[in-house]
Amino acid sequence: MTSDENYDDRHIAFLEALWGEGYLSPGGPAEVERLLDGLDLSGKTVVDIGSGAGGITIALARDYNAARVIGLDVEASVCTHARRMVDRAGLSDRVEIRQVTPGPLPLDDGSVDMVFSKDAIVHIPDKESLAKDAFRVLRPGGIFAASDWLISHDGAPSPEMADYIAKEDLNFGMASPSRYEKALTAAGFVDVSLTNRNPWYRDVAQQELDRLTGPEQPIFVDAIGEADLGGMIETWRVMLIVLRSGEHCPHHFRAVKPR
Ligand SMILES: C[S@@+](CC[C@H](N)C(=O)[O-])C[C@H]1O[C@@H](n2cnc3c(N)ncnc32)[C@H](O)[C@@H]1O
Repeated sequence: MTSDENYDDRHIAFLEALWGEGYLSPGGPAEVERLLDGLDLSGKTVVDIGSGAGGITIALARDYNAARVIGLDVEASVCTHARRMVDRAGLSDRVEIRQVTPGPLPLDDGSVDMVFSKDAIVHIPDKESLAKDAFRVLRPGGIFAASDWLISHDGAPSPEMADYIAKEDLNFGMASPSRYEKALTAAGFVDVSLTNRNPWYRDVAQQELDRLTGPEQPIFVDAIGEADLGGMIETWRVMLIVLRSGEHCPHHFRAVKPR
């Protein structure tokens, strides 16, 4: 781990205890299924931006039959963890985890069928460049399908939202649904659609907080220690305030590169 990593081994262990092995975002396999609803990945080449601990990257090959999945992530700890999971799943011939530096996608023009991402684009402040780059690497007819954490409006966050963003301490580059839509459309995508997942996550986040503070607490203490768990519980509390107000609004989005 380097000092500027957000997802060190303890943080990974904590999030896996909460969200499942290989998952660094909420919702588990059911949320991935909703995100991919109606899409056929069989035989396709997929890039997973911000592949994290690898659980979803593996699922794209194992459960959705993608022929090849390239997981890209900037942090060494998560890439090591993900590679271990890929080896254990016996998928090293189809799933590659690449540690990259932030910036353009290290992929050729028109080389992938799908750009996928789950709750990682929030870490990439320049949504416009990312949308253009996703368009570049997709083949004509290819699909950009992602889940991400958004803020409901442009401009400065409310004091409650600013408090939440500070407590997450994740260098968040949150943007609004309208900024995502404009960035995707300006990049050349068509059939751009966004789905607000706030109504789902506001309930799930309350259940997560109940788990962090309930009988399962020793599992979380074991993963991250008592002091850091206290910080996490506080983060969940302030997150729930902005989930209930609607300002923190995770979304799914889809966009198609015209043929
Ligand atoms: C919330 S985690 C989600 C991981 C995984 N997609 C999941 O849902 O389990 C966000 C991930 O994005 C990665 N990330 C941050 N900045 C990135 C960038 N510029 N390019 C690719 N990945 C990045 C982080 O290292 C982290 O693993």
